[in-house]
Amino acid sequence: MTSYPEAVRWADDGRALDVLDQTRLPEAEVRLRLETAEQVAEAIRAMRVRGAPAIGIAAAMGLALELARHTGLALPEFRLKLEQTCGLLADTRPTAVNLFWALERMRRLAASLEDSSPGVVACRLHGEASAILQEDRAMCRRIGQHGLALLPPEGVVGVLTHCNAGALATGGMGTALAPVYLARAQGRALRVYAGETRPMLQGSRLTVWELQRAGVDVTLVADTVAGFLMQQGRVNLVLVGADRIAANGDVVNKIGTYQLAVLARHHGIPFYVAAPTSSVDCAVPEGRGIPIEERDPEEVRRGFGRLTAPADAQVYAPAFDLTPAELITAIVTDRGVLRPPYAAAIREALE
Ligand code: MRU
Repeated sequence: MTSYPEAVRWADDGRALDVLDQTRLPEAEVRLRLETAEQVAEAIRAMRVRGAPAIGIAAAMGLALELARHTGLALPEFRLKLEQTCGLLADTRPTAVNLFWALERMRRLAASLEDSSPGVVACRLHGEASAILQEDRAMCRRIGQHGLALLPPEGVVGVLTHCNAGALATGGMGTALAPVYLARAQGRALRVYAGETRPMLQGSRLTVWELQRAGVDVTLVADTVAGFLMQQGRVNLVLVGADRIAANGDVVNKIGTYQLAVLARHHGIPFYVAAPTSSVDCAVPEGRGIPIEERDPEEVRRGFGRLTAPADAQVYAPAFDLTPAELITAIVTDRGVLRPPYAAAIREALE
């Protein structure tokens, strides 16, 4: 059986989050014990936990942990604590909708338990966070099964992926990488090209690490190699994740995704997005309504330590970009493969 890393899980005693610190990969496999919402918020902001589904899961678990520490409060103060903690966790990263989706789900449950004691609410929220984790695991598998059907049946399949939409980004086997894991388990011949994904290098540090660990044939390329790879006929399909999908099918994902979609269109190569339905935000009609996070310029000037630009270089550092729906061949979700026109397909899938 193919093995993949667990990005987020409960600590054995259930009183903390146990996360794999992704800022330390691939040099060191360090797991962190996070006991407070403050610690969880820091881990999300610093990208120790990252990837849209994993951020949502971590936030839900962090909220549950924090409230379990405050069951001695009177009900009104406990409710206030809940709202403040949701605010703290929501304020970490603005783009991936899964964060807000998970917190809203937790808040709704708490609201439905109006007359319950803090102890009961905290206990139910712990259960809900566990359900969010378990459901994500199942959604990843279903995405994998639907995505598998899109792979050409014959020959060595060349897949280009970007950033990390694998196990490290979710509660299960990933989204874009789920079909890859399932194909590997079936012994299908697959070669994955992983773009390194400047500036935070999720492709080289994380995707290559987790695929190598699973025995998948993976080749690292600098982001600038993508066009040449396609020109050489080495790529049969592009497969990426999503941080938020608008109601019309526009996709916001890691910076660099849009240029891959343009290149794929030019070369007549299918461009697939894989994401759970929790990444769809129907409240946003078009992609340009999605907030794009800007990161610290030092991540571009200095990367992981060494100065690679003049220390005072002006930098524009968006963490994500927008791929218009018209460039996307299909969106692979846990509820099936969605094809254009996306507005109708998305509405139907969410019903
Ligand atoms: O900044 P990151 O590393 O959190 O960005 C991650 C991505 O852009 C992923 O492609 C996306 O979240 C999908 S993860 C299943």
